[in-house]
Amino acid sequence: PLVSMNEFLPRAKREKFAVGQFNMNNLEFVQAIAQAAKEEQSPFIFGASEGAIRYMGIKNVVALARIAAEESGVPVALHLDHGSSFEVVMQCIREGFSSVMFDGSHYPLEENIRLTKQVVAAAHAVGISVEGELGTIGGVEDDLDVAEEDASIANAAEAIRFWQETRVDAMAIAVGTAHGMYKGEPKIHYDIIDEVSKAIEAPIVLHGGSGVPDESIQKAISFGAAKINVNTENQVASAQVVRELLTSKADLIDPRKYLGPARDAIKEVVRGKMRLFGSSNKA
Ligand code: G3H
Ligand code: ZN
Repeated sequence: PLVSMNEFLPRAKREKFAVGQFNMNNLEFVQAIAQAAKEEQSPFIFGASEGAIRYMGIKNVVALARIAAEESGVPVALHLDHGSSFEVVMQCIREGFSSVMFDGSHYPLEENIRLTKQVVAAAHAVGISVEGELGTIGGVEDDLDVAEEDASIANAAEAIRFWQETRVDAMAIAVGTAHGMYKGEPKIHYDIIDEVSKAIEAPIVLHGGSGVPDESIQKAISFGAAKINVNTENQVASAQVVRELLTSKADLIDPRKYLGPARDAIKEVVRGKMRLFGSSNKA
């Protein structure tokens, strides 16, 4: 069955490893992520954005995640990624999600706290874990599009107060990573991860995990990041394979012959991340 993130995140924070959130985009992503997890014996989180839910249909999202969790045999959470409203959160819980993110980061602090508290009250009543967010993560992901100049690093004192008042199970703070690929190397504010992580019980979540150098990821984990989100790198790996195959073989029409190799490419990326995050053999 699908489990709450509280089944593995507290241990991850304690033992200084991170559990990956890998976004589901279609069947091949689901299978690739689950197969990698089975081979690595790693817990993981399926991220489903509102855009992915619209694309696949919410019932397919839940059914695919349930089957993948069963087949992988490891702890799996199905998590709403960047949920935009109480209504969307409630719909996901009703359909079978085991975890939700409410992203109120674009609201003023007081409003973000007020709305997140409502989500926490409803979700915790039925055993669903909640991720909240503070600060503005730059870049593009589905419905979210934040220009570089509008991205803003979270304030540590505000993040600590946000957690004390909302009691979210995972705390996403903008610390310099961005959604999508990077133009240069991200400047990560490790001091903020460190300060917030020491002051709160919940683990820190690092969004925009794609394209971040391995050493930076390891350093972020050492300071308290215990959930790391990755999507773009999987998309790049699968798109590259499909592009090459369709370009080089003009008569190729069977989707299994280009989506199958794309699935293999995603699986390799995910396995590499699980090893990097230290979640292998922690199932
Ligand atoms: O919420 C999802 C992640 O933050 C994905 O970021 O596409 O840059 O890996 P990424
Ligand atoms: Zn994100």
